[in-house]
Amino acid sequence: MGTEPEKLWDGRFSESTDAFVEAFTASVTFDQILAAFDIEGSIAHATMLCEQNIISTEAFEQIKSGLLGILDEIRNGQFTWSVALEDVHMNIESALIDRVGEVAKVLHTARSRNDQVATDIRLYLRHAIDQILDQIQALAAVLVTLAEKETETIMPGFTHLQVAQPVVFGHHLMAWHEMIQRDADRLRDCRKRVNVLPLGAAALAGTSFPIERARTAELLGFDRVAENSLDAVSDRDFAIEFCHAASLLMMHLSRWSEELVLWSSPLVGFIELPDRFCTGSSIMPQKKNPDVPELVRGKAGRVYGSLMSLLTLMKSQPLAYNKDNQEDKEPLFDTVNTVRDCLRAFTDMLPHLEPDRDAMREAALKGFATATDLADYLVRKGIAFRDAHHIVGRLVSMAIQSGVDLSQLELSAMQSVSDKIDSDVFESLTLEGSVNARAHFGGTAPSSVRAAIARAKESH
Ligand code: ARG
Repeated sequence: MGTEPEKLWDGRFSESTDAFVEAFTASVTFDQILAAFDIEGSIAHATMLCEQNIISTEAFEQIKSGLLGILDEIRNGQFTWSVALEDVHMNIESALIDRVGEVAKVLHTARSRNDQVATDIRLYLRHAIDQILDQIQALAAVLVTLAEKETETIMPGFTHLQVAQPVVFGHHLMAWHEMIQRDADRLRDCRKRVNVLPLGAAALAGTSFPIERARTAELLGFDRVAENSLDAVSDRDFAIEFCHAASLLMMHLSRWSEELVLWSSPLVGFIELPDRFCTGSSIMPQKKNPDVPELVRGKAGRVYGSLMSLLTLMKSQPLAYNKDNQEDKEPLFDTVNTVRDCLRAFTDMLPHLEPDRDAMREAALKGFATATDLADYLVRKGIAFRDAHHIVGRLVSMAIQSGVDLSQLELSAMQSVSDKIDSDVFESLTLEGSVNARAHFGGTAPSSVRAAIARAKESH
């Protein structure tokens, strides 16, 4: 980076900026990723200025082609960014003046960096949300494909991490699918408030030029124009909302990660993660570590941190723009990058998950998972649920003492606890009987899970 170009605002200054202050106040090292959006915003602004006869057609043409040339240069990695020029906006404006001459100086008419930067971030975030929504849909499709193969795979369902009732693995995967559909909904909702045009607010009070803000909004694909100029340059709610939606998404991914880590542990052994998504240990030759889900679990923390940073950044800020707002970028960009990487990691990894169906079944058989089915059976024989619960509790205790599963108890032994029990009881005690019995909307019966999958496919 060069450091000596002329500043665009030094008219009233009598000494040059302290070198440390220059570096301290600069944002170009991180806001240069806004370049394409800054140029898009400038071209729309210049188009509107020209249509309103605020700048000449000749000036507009030169500004537009100059900006497109700069965009090429940036994309090819040939552009020289300068810390002395502070931020992406002044780097590009200064390069434009170098490229097309004095005529470029009219571009900043009826505009300030305050409404410019607010516009750039909104364009950036709108684009990022659209990319993330596409990624969520790709991940949702992966889950559905996986769930389709596992509608008959019985595993223990857990509460308190204790074996609770049998479920099918596909049902568990479709629970994950529900979580990310809500995340997508939240992002779509957030996008509505992102997609509002601040340009025209200028520094804070609007501008004395006869601008047409609706036209700029139309050119940039914004749904609305910000109502109030003070609010337009100062509002960062949309970035906070995005980080909130991202935090919930990461919370979900951290829960999946935790389950994958647990399931792939030899202590549980429900799944095998593909080797190429794991790493070894430098000291213990036997190790195969689930690094990818562990990292995703850990990265939830930095996204929550970004949400807290932005909330705190905006807390107590008086209207309108304050330099504090420059601090909105790194947490926001980091959140976008983190979420995108984590979604990608899951989308790449999940299709290669190898479930050990026998191990899942074994575990479901071990934990008296059908005890509730036995209680339900007794209810159908006319016993009140509370009493049935107690009877089954005694049967479970009997099974524990004899070291067998409920289905392995002798009929006569069961009848000694309740004379309502008949030989038809054994059907209720099978894992298949248990899941098949839950065939209502949202239940774990294979038929219900297949219906859920069909609904999901329709919604994609
Ligand atoms: N780099 C600044 C930011 O990111 C741009 C706006 C600067 N405005 C100002 N009045 N200093 O917020």
